Amino acid sequence: MTAARLTAPRLTSRRAGPLKGTVRTPGDKSISHRALILGALASGVTEIEGLLEGDDVKRTAAAMAAFGAGLERLGEGRWRVTGRGGFAEPDDVVDCGNAGTGVRLIMGAAAGFDLAATFTGDASLRGRPMNRVLKPLGEMGATWVCRAGGRLPLTLKGGNLRRIAYTLPEPSAQVKSAVLLAGLSASDGAEVIEPEATRDHTERMLRGFGAEVQVREAGAGRHIVLPGGQRLTGTSIRVPGDPSSAAFLLVAALIVPGSEVTVQGMLLNPSRIGLLDTLGEMGAELSVTNVREEGGEAVGDVTARHSELEGVEVPPDRAPSMIDEYPILAVAAAFASGKTVMRGIGEMRVKESDRIALMAAGLTACGIGVEEEPATLTVIGAKRGNHLVAGGAGVTTHGDHRIAMSHLILGLAAEEPVTVDEPGMIATSFPGFVDLMRSLGAEIAEERPAAA
Ligand code: S3P
Repeated sequence: MTAARLTAPRLTSRRAGPLKGTVRTPGDKSISHRALILGALASGVTEIEGLLEGDDVKRTAAAMAAFGAGLERLGEGRWRVTGRGGFAEPDDVVDCGNAGTGVRLIMGAAAGFDLAATFTGDASLRGRPMNRVLKPLGEMGATWVCRAGGRLPLTLKGGNLRRIAYTLPEPSAQVKSAVLLAGLSASDGAEVIEPEATRDHTERMLRGFGAEVQVREAGAGRHIVLPGGQRLTGTSIRVPGDPSSAAFLLVAALIVPGSEVTVQGMLLNPSRIGLLDTLGEMGAELSVTNVREEGGEAVGDVTARHSELEGVEVPPDRAPSMIDEYPILAVAAAFASGKTVMRGIGEMRVKESDRIALMAAGLTACGIGVEEEPATLTVIGAKRGNHLVAGGAGVTTHGDHRIAMSHLILGLAAEEPVTVDEPGMIATSFPGFVDLMRSLGAEIAEERPAAA
């Protein structure tokens, strides 16, 4: 082990008073990536407000500049993208960091142009499957050279794409979006058929940029048709608060006695709020007020109060609407009475880490009973028989921001403190997480172990 590793900072959370306050979370990550990419593909100026300035999205901004768009930061979360109506060939490798959404959507967009582009990312992203995107792009006419198993780094050669009608083999909004973005430049557009509906921000935003997108339910699922020969025109976008980030604050309020936390301006798109339904079924005291529309998306203020939770069976068809929220749901489940069974969540294994395995390991280390199957995670709530959540563990996060935040939230209500490694990765999706939690009353401390 190197000295750098021995002295790497870690974060420790511990029990303190109740969490109280009204806050906003940073902009939605999915919408932020799309705003930059569509802005770069469009002709003219796109003004974005509330952009998430996390590491993932900053990588996408840099990538858009590399593909020829003009990028200006006007202020906090305020960006201007000047699109050239298409992508130019980048003159260096495009490094998407930790961002699966960034690289997969950008590959789809880039495949439509007569260029070669080489993509890479951090160790996590280089281990994630790109075949799911390369397969449909290949059927459309793109070619590539990559590492075994469709892994990054890879070089993609685009241009001259033909229409595709593609049925998603796995419920993935990233794959759907990559095909639609490629379809913008294909001779006759593209059609995606989703057997299970996934987040629909790309479809909504394409319309906001002036494109026609037809959506109909038929036969095997939802058909999304992008007619050919469309051009995008720059527009204005206000990015709502990210429900996947708000999830940590809401669950924290539910498990820390005496808490009441309101998250203002949270995105309420039905394809993203399966967690609210699930927590409601568990008996969570949640209320949604001030529902309004901002930039084509519903937003509202969500309040969570400390609640006695009960375990539930989460239906597998809910997975796409809360796929990033299962780690924090598993934490809520740890504080519930009874079992929570989460089925149909195999996609969790190919996220920034194998999130089923890491949540099972982290919860076990914190004294929680867990059963792990290939696509199911079962958490035995500690409240049964009045047991408490022990905590007292050091958790290895494998650089996964959501694994780190989930365990820090657990530590706020456990008997003993919980420590996570690689806390810097939290900034990929939720810069300012620690300060925001502290402003609500949480005790989270940075520790830098002494070098040996
Ligand atoms: C995302 C889609 C989901 C999600 C990811 C963001 C998107 O991934 O996990 O964090 O913005 O399209 P999949 O499409 O792989 O399910």
